[in-house]
Amino acid sequence: MRIVSGIQPTGNLHLGNYLGAIKRWVEMQDEGECLFFLADLHAITVHNNPAELRDNVRAMAAALIACGIDPDRSILFNQARVPAHAELAWLLNGTARIGWLNRMTQFKEKSGKNREAASVGLFAYPVLMAADVLLYQATHVPVGEDQKQHLELARDVATKFNTDFDVELFTLPEPLIGKAGARVMSLRDGSAKMSKSDPSDMSRVNLNDDSDSIAQKIRKAKTDPEPLPDSVEGLEGRPEARNLVAIYAALTGREAQAVLDDFAGQGFGAFKPALAELLIESMRPIKNRLDELKANPDELDSILRRGSERATALGAPTLAGAYEALGLQR
Ligand code: TYM
Repeated sequence: MRIVSGIQPTGNLHLGNYLGAIKRWVEMQDEGECLFFLADLHAITVHNNPAELRDNVRAMAAALIACGIDPDRSILFNQARVPAHAELAWLLNGTARIGWLNRMTQFKEKSGKNREAASVGLFAYPVLMAADVLLYQATHVPVGEDQKQHLELARDVATKFNTDFDVELFTLPEPLIGKAGARVMSLRDGSAKMSKSDPSDMSRVNLNDDSDSIAQKIRKAKTDPEPLPDSVEGLEGRPEARNLVAIYAALTGREAQAVLDDFAGQGFGAFKPALAELLIESMRPIKNRLDELKANPDELDSILRRGSERATALGAPTLAGAYEALGLQR
């Protein structure tokens, strides 16, 4: 089992990233060989502030370690330190089809109305993602629901390359999408996913929020006036209520139904303080570790450098195989 996944180093880690991906990355460290990386090459496909990017790579590395990624057991690095990602992405650009990329919903969302002005990188983004996982022969890729389509494209690229060049080079990666936390929604709008790019900070819980702001964000989270139902079917048509119950369930590792068994009939006046307390208690150790790690940027750099050396060595045979299969001489 080879587990590979990445996260963009843009701003803060939020609860959606944590429950959708990082919490499961941490658990998976016991199940197989893991590579986790900061997708800094993906981050430059939209407006990029170089000084911020430099800081964010370290900050995100610190956040992952604070959440429980152990850089001795897992290979932790940033993409830019492993040139094989960019190289393989270019090689795969010959295999990926424009028609496939045209179907990517994330590109449609991120490029907005003015598609002509979007960067070529934003369009080709899923090909780099395919390279990220195919380079290491990933068998499993733990992600949130929103990345599923990109991983299907990675599988299509792998299959077409293997077939076109009659090789058994790439392993088909399996997306691993958890039930709880796969799609954490905004606290202000139950129909939009919790996201770093939402202009309202009240829409998300950031991992470095202090206890007061977590409590305030939950208190002000949008809800409806009804009490909680006694079964999950009763949450239909109530996206905000469903989201808060799902967050509670994901944090405690239980099913939504089990949470409803405890809170059925109670209003948000009772449920919200319980959720806020649970969040504060869950985030506290992470935040404390984060503060310690941030004080030591040199150590973070050296962890990432060491991770990138290990990743480069692991990816080398596959990259060589791709050059070879294409008839490229090096
Ligand atoms: P990114 O940086 O947007 O998000 C990192 C991870 O968090 C998950 N996620 C969520 N899960 C549940 N609810 C949410 N509201 C939520 N928001 C984000 C994402 O699904 C993701 O798992 N393109 C990727 C990074 C990437 C990658 C890869 C991932 C680059 N190369 C290769 C896997 C394999 C991205 O932008 O994720």
